[in-house]
Amino acid sequence: MPQFYHDIELPGCKIPGNLFLAPIAGFSDAAFRSICIEKGASMGFTEMVSCDGLVRNGEKTKALLKRAANEDFFAVQLFTSDPEMALKAAAEVMSYRPDVIDLNCGCPVPKVVKNGAGSALMNDLPRLKDIVTALTEGAAEYAKTERSAAPPVSVKIRSGWDSSSINYIETAQTAVDAGASMISLHSRTRAQGYSGRAAWEHLRILKESISVPVIGSGDLFSPEAALEMFESTGCDGVMFSRGALGNPWIFEQTKHLLLTGKPIEQPSDLEKIAVALKHLDAAVFFNGEARACKEMKKHLCSYTKGTSGAAAIRNLIVHASSHAEYREILLHHNTETAE
Ligand SMILES: Cc1cc2nc3c(=O)[nH]c(=O)nc-3n(C[C@H](O)[C@H](O)[C@H](O)COP(=O)(O)O)c2cc1C
Repeated sequence: MPQFYHDIELPGCKIPGNLFLAPIAGFSDAAFRSICIEKGASMGFTEMVSCDGLVRNGEKTKALLKRAANEDFFAVQLFTSDPEMALKAAAEVMSYRPDVIDLNCGCPVPKVVKNGAGSALMNDLPRLKDIVTALTEGAAEYAKTERSAAPPVSVKIRSGWDSSSINYIETAQTAVDAGASMISLHSRTRAQGYSGRAAWEHLRILKESISVPVIGSGDLFSPEAALEMFESTGCDGVMFSRGALGNPWIFEQTKHLLLTGKPIEQPSDLEKIAVALKHLDAAVFFNGEARACKEMKKHLCSYTKGTSGAAAIRNLIVHASSHAEYREILLHHNTETAE
């Protein structure tokens, strides 16, 4: 079997492994990334961070840029429609020591695209080019003053705006010509949102068309799906998104499958609850109790999905509001599961 699990070499940065946690707004914070790293992820991407917010030094933005102690590698994803703002943000973001600076060109949310950012950039390639150039130059300028190396810039795109404007090859090539060192492709159009099937053949065609590493995204819900994506597209790495929610084991399972050709066992209910507790504690540590308790509801429902008594525990989680309450629910569930 070809060796699908390997490092990703970018200019000045060798990422140990090619199984990434995708940028996921509302989910891929320092707490979740640290859990995924512990379970075998090679690197995690932050949630999308506004260049404006970064330049204004907003508190909310700073919170998105927290980095966990076990994140040896960490990619910051930025979004903007303004090359000047990108230039300033690239210098600002350098103080967070990102290993990769990623540009979001795939977000479908109306609030973002109406301002010309996210997937709207795929409809304005000259602007996209200017933003990638600004990010590359901004980071390089800052690095020069620090006598350090600038991190590589990567770009995350979709297949196109809609089915009548599929332009992922042109978009990726524009980004590479402007200095991007890696392209991630979520092979759905903006019009598809997150529904319908991802068109993996676009990944294969992109891999044949550009010279930089291609990372595949879309419909990766199991280690077997990741193996199939590697085999059928020749992509250099994969990015788990919804498939990792409540399921960070997907990274070590995929690594094992890619290295040995054999699956490993699913985690027990006890292990799921133990990791959910650890994630909860990490979220409180990074985000404070109030925010963590709000954001952990969805994560905890995902962890407990499929465990025995899932419906009852879900009901308790939905109504809980403090760290102590969540801990009590999980610990109680843990004891019941063990009996
Ligand atoms: C709730 C949610 C939030 C997301 N946020 C981002 C984001 O901030 N930046 C980004 O580039 N993609 C974002 N994505 C897209 C994912 O990174 C990924 O490309 C997409 O979910 C496809 O993979 P999947 O079908 O395996 O889930 C988001 C997806 C979801 C479901």
